[in-house]
Amino acid sequence: MSVSKLCILGCGGFIGSYILDRVLADPVYTVCGVDVSSYKIQRHLDNPSFVYVNMDISDVTRLRPLVEGCDVVVSLAALCNPSLYNTAPLRVIENNFNQPLAIASMCAEMKKRLVHFSTCEVYGRTVESYVERNINGIPAAFNEDTTPYVLGPIHAQRWTYSCAKQLSERMIYAYGYEKGLEYTIVRPFNFIGPGMDYIPGIDGEGIPRVIACFMDSLMAGKPLKLVDGGHNMRTFTYIDDAVDAIMAIINCPEKTKGMIFNIGNPQNETTIAGLAAKMRDIYESIRPQAPLCDIVPVTAEEFYGKGYEDSDRRIPDISKARELLGWTPHVSLDDALVKTITGFANNYFL
Ligand code: NAD
Ligand code: UGA
Repeated sequence: MSVSKLCILGCGGFIGSYILDRVLADPVYTVCGVDVSSYKIQRHLDNPSFVYVNMDISDVTRLRPLVEGCDVVVSLAALCNPSLYNTAPLRVIENNFNQPLAIASMCAEMKKRLVHFSTCEVYGRTVESYVERNINGIPAAFNEDTTPYVLGPIHAQRWTYSCAKQLSERMIYAYGYEKGLEYTIVRPFNFIGPGMDYIPGIDGEGIPRVIACFMDSLMAGKPLKLVDGGHNMRTFTYIDDAVDAIMAIINCPEKTKGMIFNIGNPQNETTIAGLAAKMRDIYESIRPQAPLCDIVPVTAEEFYGKGYEDSDRRIPDISKARELLGWTPHVSLDDALVKTITGFANNYFL
């Protein structure tokens, strides 16, 4: 079956805008895109293959005909910014569980395929970080089908998002099991690129994800802040690699039916302290006239408030995506950061 009519929920966000770039460059696709903001996708609004609908996905009555008219629903809409998990937990649960529930139910009823975006945060922390030893040789890399999920206690509200996303996965799995929903679940591992999030005070308010926080500091000559010393680790994935995998998933309904895919780059691991140092070096090479910023530690409570806990380390096992999609990420961390930092500087500054 060839996929041509897409309904993309959350098309105006970071990942959505890059998916639009890719699909609207190919005349085979037509797209109905839903979001509450079109700020990042102005370049596509006049494209005859694209219909943008400015609405909240909770408006199920308006959503129904849009889902009815497509082959596949790509569900990206979410509140996925860690600064909200412990400060707006009810909105986070509503947005990351209740709304996906309504969408999955609609897709099951209308027999539409659903490509749902979950997160690597469902894995939580490493088992080792709690028990400080490797139980029964559980491997370091997170596997979609064998790794257990390790979250903190209820008052550590950081985990509201992880938990809501995990329950959404279980709900979608159950719709597949009981109602025959055709679905694929994507677990992104820290995708990065130009245009992610916002710069506080310029085109958004609050605390964005780490790349935008560090870009804000670098462009304004302010200190880069390392939460709890920046010892925690992430594997960063360049957005073009990620979109290659997403397109393979969208276009291979049979191979990916009922499956969960980690999409990430296990080679691109760094501590957050290492990330700050690299970003500062790259920014200095791009803008040698800019003042050198300090890198300072800050406690999690000072930075995010009470109830913030962190994932210590998350490395994706991507053997399933390699085998079934023939996908492999190519962009190194250094190259990804050069592209990202240059893109930010061009967008906001130069
Ligand atoms: P983003 O915040 O840039 O985009 C989300 C978009 O959804 C925004 O444009 C927002 O306006 C829209 N949206 C949110 N709630 C809505 C609603 N109720 N109605 C209509 N639109 C709504 O986020 P992103 O980085 O593009 O992430 C997209 C998806 O991928 C999310 O589900 C997120 O949880 C998941 N994800 C992303 C990453 C990553 O590395 N970027 C990692 C893990 C998971
Ligand atoms: C992100 C978000 O939960 C989601 O966007 C997504 O589902 C998932 O993880 C992902 O991108 O794969 P996290 O990686 O913690 O969570 O998000 P960031 O805000 O980018 O933080 C990364 C690390 O940098 C954390 O350890 C955070 O404490 C740290 N940080 C952040 C700093 O040290 N300084 C800052 O200024 C900002």
